[in-house]
Amino acid sequence: MADELEANLLSSLLDSDCIPDSSEFASSQRIDHGRVVGLIKSLQSDGLIIAEGSELASFELTEEGASYQQAGSPEAQVWNSIPEEGVAVTHAVLASPLGKIGQSKGLQKKWLFMDKSSTGTLVKRKVDSITDTVQEQLSKVLQGQHQEVPSKELADLKKRKMIRDVKRFTYRVAKGPEFALQRRKAATDLTADMLAKGTWKEEKFKAYNFNALGQPTAGGHLHPLLKVRTQFRKIFTQMGFQEMATNAFVESSFWNFDALFQPQQHPARDAHDTFFLTHPARAPICHVPEDYLNRVRQVHERGGYGSEGYGTPWKVAEAEKNLLRTHTTAVSSRMLYKLAQEGFRPAKYFSIDRVFRNEAVDRTHLAEFHQIEGVVCDIGLTLGHLIGILKLFFTRLGLPKLRFKPAYNPYTEPSMEIFSYSEELKKWIEVGNSGMFRPEMLRPMGLPENVNVIAWGLGLERPTMILYGIDNIRDLFGHKVNLGMVKRNPICRLGF
Ligand code: PHE
Repeated sequence: MADELEANLLSSLLDSDCIPDSSEFASSQRIDHGRVVGLIKSLQSDGLIIAEGSELASFELTEEGASYQQAGSPEAQVWNSIPEEGVAVTHAVLASPLGKIGQSKGLQKKWLFMDKSSTGTLVKRKVDSITDTVQEQLSKVLQGQHQEVPSKELADLKKRKMIRDVKRFTYRVAKGPEFALQRRKAATDLTADMLAKGTWKEEKFKAYNFNALGQPTAGGHLHPLLKVRTQFRKIFTQMGFQEMATNAFVESSFWNFDALFQPQQHPARDAHDTFFLTHPARAPICHVPEDYLNRVRQVHERGGYGSEGYGTPWKVAEAEKNLLRTHTTAVSSRMLYKLAQEGFRPAKYFSIDRVFRNEAVDRTHLAEFHQIEGVVCDIGLTLGHLIGILKLFFTRLGLPKLRFKPAYNPYTEPSMEIFSYSEELKKWIEVGNSGMFRPEMLRPMGLPENVNVIAWGLGLERPTMILYGIDNIRDLFGHKVNLGMVKRNPICRLGF
């Protein structure tokens, strides 16, 4: 069918050089104009034809017009129904709306006349036969041949609301540079076979269509961790926190442990728990000013600021050891030292980035994961401030019910584990760790005595797994992740 249409169109071009109106061609073929337009576009892209589109003013029959096209104009209908002897003006034939129009038009056209006799007025035929030109003209409009109707009469039909204006889009088609009665299928690809046989020289290639829309791209999907990180970022920034620079995965033991008053003998500093670097194994400690280094040594060995210290020797060599940072608190310690150097001012900081621990990997633990950390530094902060800000933060996360449990961190006192009630699991689950940084950490940095720092940390993976319904951490992060999971997970979730 499609081939037949194509053959018909091409052969009528061969005969007449031009198809002036594609919609006329479509009706001559008794085929929908849309299909002809599709064929025109495809033949044009192959160069067989040239097509020029334009909007043509045309007409169509109104409902009333269509009924007259079938049954005749009102005047013809009235003339036909009047017998030889005529009818009284009050007769039913003339009383209907159609009868009234028919009578007046019939009189106007001198098809009828009024015969006034003593018994009353009759309407009678004036002529023996009539030609219903209105019906003929309506038929022409219906067939798309309105050009054959004189414009004055078209205007009259319009005035009588039998036809109305329409615009239709149509193409004028002429032979193109590649005109032929049969289309040769253009090759879309250069093949190895064409190259080997040399047939590419004669081959006709399809032109590139630079307007074609491309396939949806396979890339550009955000990993769930990135999406949840964005949500955490929003919560922090809306609460007025500033993001800290977290771009150093490799850190010295000094900033990761010593500056935080974590003793050099602490088990976390064992190679079983921490990844130490072998190349370069050490970061020369000279980037830390001598006086600060000495204050850190002093507080570890002998104490100060109300503390007894650890009473064991503190070695620079231990502090110089390079490691993969084990927590984002290493970022916070650098930042707080910088703040103390710049002169104290109230500050709210946060970070979300990767940390590393030499841990046995199982369905809830990885050696590489992400931590979220919030830090607030101001004069006179108390545990009450910490509890208040944690309530605010976790409520924004969608976890309003909180409980706290005393805990221990070398760098915070007091310290609290944070538990949240999960409505889904119907139990309290641990969601983070928090505390007030010790004076043994803050005072050597140079922060004033009345300044306190409250802080908390949590993992990014656990909330993400809960939100995305993933129960094995290895399905979320690491080399075994199925990329399909990343592609398929929703762009947005309705949740916190
Ligand atoms: N650094 C802690 C951890 O690794 C979290 C924490 C941050 C605790 C800040 C107290 C204060 O879990």
